[in-house]
Amino acid sequence: MNYMTPPKLFTPGPVDIFDETRAALGGPVPHMSDPRWLALYAETVEMLHTIMQTRNDIIVMTAPGSGAIETGLASLFVSGEEVVVVRNGMFAERIVQILTNYGCPVISVEGVWGEAIDAAAVSAALDAHPNAAGVAVVANETGTGVRNPVCDLAQLAHRRDLPIFVDAVSGMGGYDLPVDRWGLDVLATSSNKALEMAPGLGILSVSERAWAIIEAKEESARRGWYYNLATWKASRSRAAFPFPSTPPTLLIAGLHASLKRILEVETLTGHWARYAYAQGTVRRRLRELGFEMLAADAVASPTVTTVYKRREMESIDELRDYLLHAHNMMIATGGGPLTGQIARISHMGLAGTGEYVQALIDGVAAFVYRG
Ligand SMILES: Cc1ncc(COP(=O)(O)O)c(C=O)c1O
Repeated sequence: MNYMTPPKLFTPGPVDIFDETRAALGGPVPHMSDPRWLALYAETVEMLHTIMQTRNDIIVMTAPGSGAIETGLASLFVSGEEVVVVRNGMFAERIVQILTNYGCPVISVEGVWGEAIDAAAVSAALDAHPNAAGVAVVANETGTGVRNPVCDLAQLAHRRDLPIFVDAVSGMGGYDLPVDRWGLDVLATSSNKALEMAPGLGILSVSERAWAIIEAKEESARRGWYYNLATWKASRSRAAFPFPSTPPTLLIAGLHASLKRILEVETLTGHWARYAYAQGTVRRRLRELGFEMLAADAVASPTVTTVYKRREMESIDELRDYLLHAHNMMIATGGGPLTGQIARISHMGLAGTGEYVQALIDGVAAFVYRG
């Protein structure tokens, strides 16, 4: 591997980021009580409201995506409460692990890895478990490159007066995922995917319904402190300093630069369109090169494409290793039942630009015709 020139990242996180964002990250560390930084923070949150299409409260914490997910699940559900979980990929398994560690029995709705869940199966699970406390689902399963029908699942949950938790770590910002219109109660995402920033920020939106549930469970909950939305709720009442602890000031400055570029240079729909174009081009050109797609077009993710190995290959690792060593490009491969079978190619950040897409297609074509 050539350490002098960093590889082009086609991994579904972290992603290669734009110059404006890199420049902001290279600046001095702002102080958290500097009014200029507080104004930049307020603007960042306002831009997140626009991108997430919500007026719900938004929390930006120092955490990976998993930290935001853990915060949401641990705040919404208490030990002993059953939660209906859609299981059709590796990040659904993360939800199961977190809930299990918090003592919440999981009611599994098993799906096929590579297919979207059938909402009727979730409805049946809710009917069979009238004591369930809510539903948890991964919107965009990065392990399989599939979108789940989150809007339908939210309706099913609300019909029973239950909240829905959504892991949108690799979805939010990459396509139309409207929190308010779909009624998504707690949604977790992170900085280093379709928001095109470095890793380090966990982001949550919390609906009024979710706050009411969190407050009602305050007494019985065995939550932590930082990874606890009740702690954040308390600090939010202090307008001058709405954080429970030292905020990641420089990372938030980087996020501000990235969101400003998305909204002002690309526009939100332009940003989605760039990903959709990258996704469509990669799927079409790789099919022409003899690769089959794991996800059907109708449910395929606009942020990550999953590609089967060609028949003559022993493992998809051959393509991953070739692209890294011969072309200095990184792609990801699949886990669980898809180990060795699929490549996962991101369209987020610079990977969704024409230059990167062409480089990737050229690299894959060189692999196929390498003799
Ligand atoms: C859908 C999804 N959920 C959760 C995570 C975990 O995020 P992190 O590695 O930042 O903890 C990822 C990371 O790729 C993801 O794609």
